[in-house]
Amino acid sequence: MKGMRKDLLGLEDMEADEMKHILDETVAFKEILFRTIKKVPTLRGRTIATLFYEPSTRTRLSFELAAKRMGADSAAISVATSSVVKGESLKDTARTLEAMGVDMIILRHGEAGAPHLVAQTVKASVINAGDGMHEHPTQGLLDLFTITEKKGRIQGLHVAIIGDITHSRVARSDIWGLKRLGAEVTLVGPPTLIPVDIEKTGVNVSYHLDPVIPKADVIYILRLQQERQQAGLFPSIREYIQRYGISRERLSRAKFDVLIMHPGPMNPGIEITEDVAISTASVVEEQVTNGVAVRMALLHYLLGGQPYEEAA
Ligand code: CP
Repeated sequence: MKGMRKDLLGLEDMEADEMKHILDETVAFKEILFRTIKKVPTLRGRTIATLFYEPSTRTRLSFELAAKRMGADSAAISVATSSVVKGESLKDTARTLEAMGVDMIILRHGEAGAPHLVAQTVKASVINAGDGMHEHPTQGLLDLFTITEKKGRIQGLHVAIIGDITHSRVARSDIWGLKRLGAEVTLVGPPTLIPVDIEKTGVNVSYHLDPVIPKADVIYILRLQQERQQAGLFPSIREYIQRYGISRERLSRAKFDVLIMHPGPMNPGIEITEDVAISTASVVEEQVTNGVAVRMALLHYLLGGQPYEEAA
């Protein structure tokens, strides 16, 4: 299966078998992270560049660490001090990186579809590290890996995704991945933060959290994206906390082995209380660790072995 695709732009176009293959490969790559010498030469001589037009801690650092662990060179372009501020277009920036011999561009951008444009422009592989409100496929894959690692399966699990679905690229990638691997998904949030017609993807929708909590095997809490909110989408932060915040009291009504997940960064005291975030049910730190392993597997999948153009 390796070498079958040049880019990873979303999970919408990824079949279940391909997801399972990447998740299976991740197991071996995770083992490397716990060795004394956390490095293999598999991608020696390959170069990746991270090009982030929006802030990031986890995604950017985990790609850079994944590249280093695999023996690849990595370069981070700081958009704020690059020629982007002189008006250089996204396409020209991508062509410039390719002209310097970059094999893969990892792009985060505020506009949905920006990675697709870059993927059509350059021969280098492109990974979507989050495009607007569209997709965040590597977050989706690391979430699928974390659930599989903890629960042994995705098939048949009930996953509740709670909060601001409308603005969430994480929710979209998770929905594609979870549905394709056979989970039941319920989206929970205020009507103004749940997209119209989202049920067409096969999910359930509930505007009330409390009836959903006892049925969920996984409670996936989204960040309330205050930077993307328009006025009036919900009455107040206080009411949001009352209706949708995950607290100890709410957690006490969940299944004994429920998993609490959050993509980070968190707003402690808003969508999740600090004590829930560090409770034994929480796998937030494992998600971060698994993010490095999944991205190592992806770099290997897209760059390792035969180059894409030779396999085509
Ligand atoms: N989950 C996530 O994408 O985090 P960052 O914004 O820190 O990369």
